[in-house]
Amino acid sequence: MSENNVAQFGQGDASFRAAGEYEGIKALVEQFYIEMSTLPKATAIWAMHNHDDMEQIHDKLTRFLCSWLGGPRLFREKYGPISIPAFHKQFPIGPAERDAWLLCMKRAADKQPYSDAFKCYLLEQLYRPAEFSRSRD
Ligand code: HEM
Repeated sequence: MSENNVAQFGQGDASFRAAGEYEGIKALVEQFYIEMSTLPKATAIWAMHNHDDMEQIHDKLTRFLCSWLGGPRLFREKYGPISIPAFHKQFPIGPAERDAWLLCMKRAADKQPYSDAFKCYLLEQLYRPAEFSRSRD
């Protein structure tokens, strides 16, 4: 990947728009949790989630990604500020869990009407917060 991608998507709300804005990101998140609930490699991370509250978990990740991608600050508006690394320290997240989370995101992104360039950019950018969410080796 490429500096071109960074130039293309790393500006203003370009990534938010490339992801289909709120509705597109909501669809991505829905597919992400379908992947997590069905992929054998994601069994451990799926088990960490509170399955009685999936509606709110979907809403939180959707809103977070909207702002993270340069769109409106929808997470903060409804739930207040969050530090992704600090929040995730309560969960046993090592490299395998990080990679399983990213795999679910990759599979979900592959099912969206995104360009290959945006999919590649999105996954590369997500590596950073996923790595920072790691709480153990
Ligand atoms: C590295 C692998 C990751 C794992 C295993 C993981 C796991 C989890 C779990 C177990 C929860 C709690 C769900 C519940 O309430 O039951 C959660 C919440 C959340 N995660 Fe992650 N996560 C990961 C990475 C990320 C990344 C990279 C982001 C953002 C780019 C993210 C954004 C969020 C948000 C916004 C919430 C909701 C926080 C809240 O309740 O206020 N997660 N995650």
